[in-house]
Amino acid sequence: MRDAAPQTIYLKDYTPFGYTVEEVHLTFDLAPSATRVTSRIRFAPTPEAVDKTFFLHGENLSLISAKIDGEAVKPNPTDQGLTCDVPNVPFTWEAEVQIDPAANTALEGLYQSNGMYCTQCEAEGFRKITYYPDRPDVMSVFTVRINGPHPVLLSNGNPVASGDGWAEWHDPWPKPAYLFALVAGELVAHRDTFETMEGRKVDLALHVRAGDEGKCAFGMQALKDSMKWDEDVYGRAYDLDVFNIVAVDDFNMGAMENKGLNIFNASAVLASPETSTDSNFERIEAIIAHEYFHNWTGNRITCRDWFQLCLKEGLTVFRDSQFTADMRSEPVKRISDVIVLRAHQFPEDQGPLAHPVRPESFQEINNFYTATVYEKGAEVIRMLKTLVGDAGYKTALDLYFERHDGDAATIEDWLAVFEEATGRDLTQFKRWYSQAGTPRVAVSDSFEDGTYTLSFAQHTPPSSATPDPQAQVIPIAVGLLSPDGDEVMPTQILELTQDSQSFSFPGLSAKPVPSILRGCSAPVELEHTPDNAFLLAHDTDPFNRWEAARNLAKASLLGTITGGTAPDGGWLDGVAGLLSDDTLDPAYRGYVFAMPGQSQLAADLHQAGTTPDPDAIWAASEVHRKALADRMADVLPDLYARHQVDAPYAPDAAQAGQRALGNTVLSLLSLLDGGDAAQAQFDGATNMTQQLAALAYLIRAGRGDAALAQFEAQWKHDRLVMDKWFGLQVIEADPDDAADTAKALTLHPDFNWKNPNRFRATLGTFSGHHAGFHAKDGSGYTLLADWLIKLDPVNPQTTARMCSAFQTWRRYDAIRQSMIGKELERIAAAPNLSRDTTEMITRIRE
Ligand code: PHE
Ligand code: ZN
Repeated sequence: MRDAAPQTIYLKDYTPFGYTVEEVHLTFDLAPSATRVTSRIRFAPTPEAVDKTFFLHGENLSLISAKIDGEAVKPNPTDQGLTCDVPNVPFTWEAEVQIDPAANTALEGLYQSNGMYCTQCEAEGFRKITYYPDRPDVMSVFTVRINGPHPVLLSNGNPVASGDGWAEWHDPWPKPAYLFALVAGELVAHRDTFETMEGRKVDLALHVRAGDEGKCAFGMQALKDSMKWDEDVYGRAYDLDVFNIVAVDDFNMGAMENKGLNIFNASAVLASPETSTDSNFERIEAIIAHEYFHNWTGNRITCRDWFQLCLKEGLTVFRDSQFTADMRSEPVKRISDVIVLRAHQFPEDQGPLAHPVRPESFQEINNFYTATVYEKGAEVIRMLKTLVGDAGYKTALDLYFERHDGDAATIEDWLAVFEEATGRDLTQFKRWYSQAGTPRVAVSDSFEDGTYTLSFAQHTPPSSATPDPQAQVIPIAVGLLSPDGDEVMPTQILELTQDSQSFSFPGLSAKPVPSILRGCSAPVELEHTPDNAFLLAHDTDPFNRWEAARNLAKASLLGTITGGTAPDGGWLDGVAGLLSDDTLDPAYRGYVFAMPGQSQLAADLHQAGTTPDPDAIWAASEVHRKALADRMADVLPDLYARHQVDAPYAPDAAQAGQRALGNTVLSLLSLLDGGDAAQAQFDGATNMTQQLAALAYLIRAGRGDAALAQFEAQWKHDRLVMDKWFGLQVIEADPDDAADTAKALTLHPDFNWKNPNRFRATLGTFSGHHAGFHAKDGSGYTLLADWLIKLDPVNPQTTARMCSAFQTWRRYDAIRQSMIGKELERIAAAPNLSRDTTEMITRIRE
């Protein structure tokens, strides 16, 4: 039952629960529509508690019976749970409830996916399983008995005993309810073992549906690599005798770090060369690492309340990015992270959904699993590490683990260990956690008597989340190059703390060329016109060299969009040179070529005071691709031939880089040869990376039909590959056709709209087709709104996340704004709209 008027929860109102939970015993009698959950929970009143209300959360539960110390009691139902009179001494609460997993389409709590039972409890799903203080600061030790006719019965912790039709599990590590998990079904296991640095032998298993056994080996290796890496780099060892991972087809997010029993969206763990692209492999490796790293940053040290979500997520994203950089290429990982940050976090921070990394209020916590909490949260930790240095970071982290192991901690606790370990005052730095908005940093310089001076002025645009932003601590990594291209000052970190501030560099014989914000040392936007052609040729910092190429591309594109100018020869020369420079990592060269996304260009135009025209942006992007292909026509066939991999497929960085560059070259070639080379690659492809790229270029070349049909026939039995088939047709469609293509796909017999992966592959991909979604006639807006209205009653969480497609609506012209405004109004007016979607639409319309 929910309140009619949504309630806002505030960080400032935090109060501890008045009871500790000493132990929890749960028994599950599984049945699809009538699962019985019996709980026996030992509570003890906390003597110092101010609020002694005994309130247990509970949603969609049928209470069969409740007892305290063996005596039947009659609890008082409330909107979101129950209260009960309880003794002022330790007592045992027992309850039996009935739930309906088969009817649970929201995929929170206990639900079924293809006949298998599984759970998702973060953030507030445990309350749909039984009555409980479902808050992260209530931690306890769980023992779980599962009764059901399934060969595989799993829960958290270590197995205790099992027999025909039952299994018992015990998790010795106190944990909040959001980390509870249960899985039951007919699953096959891919097994391995790992011995920790402490000498513990851990049984590892990846449980999948029959037929998916061949897609487990890579994930298992990634798990072992992650376990080893966390020992080597953070000194953290695993702490149970088993580690189980389960792949699930129906899942709202990527994966979940339940203690000892990680549950994964099948797309985030299953991989084989024939069915997965190199990017899929890299993503899977990162997600496995992310969930595994949560065992320390999230589980052993958890969050006091959901406002502290970034405590575990920002840190764990930062840790998984370090892992990927170590496993693959550091500069390439940094570039791809910054692309994601700018594409997802910046628009959020600069629009109606802006919120601080640690928000101060929410209505539905599910709406705060955002790019700001995750990605900006990780950037904040990256800056902290830059400021205190590697040694300071290590000392602080060691202290964090030592002091807070077993705690439900806060951002204050986190910053305190850095202050103590390094002696640094972080009062001002803390604004990164409390202020929304992307700081803008203006740069100017001068040169006099051998002294070069760089001046910075910072300004964060005010927002409703942060109406009066104050100056932040911004670490700006700077290097100086001499006019002939030598580095005269290697990277230094300048700490910008004032609104405006200057830094001087004496003893120079000529005015240097600065390379500013190397490695993207802070999540800010620069107002600055660097000497891009010079930096592209000479910068020693790989990130800024890529940035220079990107800046040139951007300027050229904006020139075409607003002034109709031809693609810039300087950009063409610079990029063509790098593409053919075999001394550079192929993966890196692939990124140097990649042009800024169309939504990014729209943001840039808007920032510059011009209303973006999606069709003009699309056209300019096409013209630029073609210009690059023409410019490189002579060298493309040879470049393509030289970046084919002869060795057997391996998903490693070296091979993936070759294929990425080979495919980039093929995309250009296809603009010149009408798709002949792409057809040849498609016909001869032995892995999904080659097959899918070739299919994309054939669609672009207007000759994709036969290949699409062939691909469908080949892969119709494979859900994950078919998601690609759905998505690719949408993203590669011409702007005029994109909405019709997506609409036609929703009529395909395999369009199972209740499956979040398939829904996202079709409608989510469509909302990312900039010119298609923003089609002049408004058909894109209507299509998305229709489907959001349809999905909301079934799956509010996935619906609400996808509303963010509308967050940038104020950038566009009055006609588009009015069309979007009407669609938002229509969604808001849908009967019984979920709390999740209501909050999103309300904020977007603000
Ligand atoms: N905690 C998960 C992660 O970051 C994400 C998640 C959130 C999954 C909510 C499900 C529900 O790895
Ligand atoms: Zn996480």
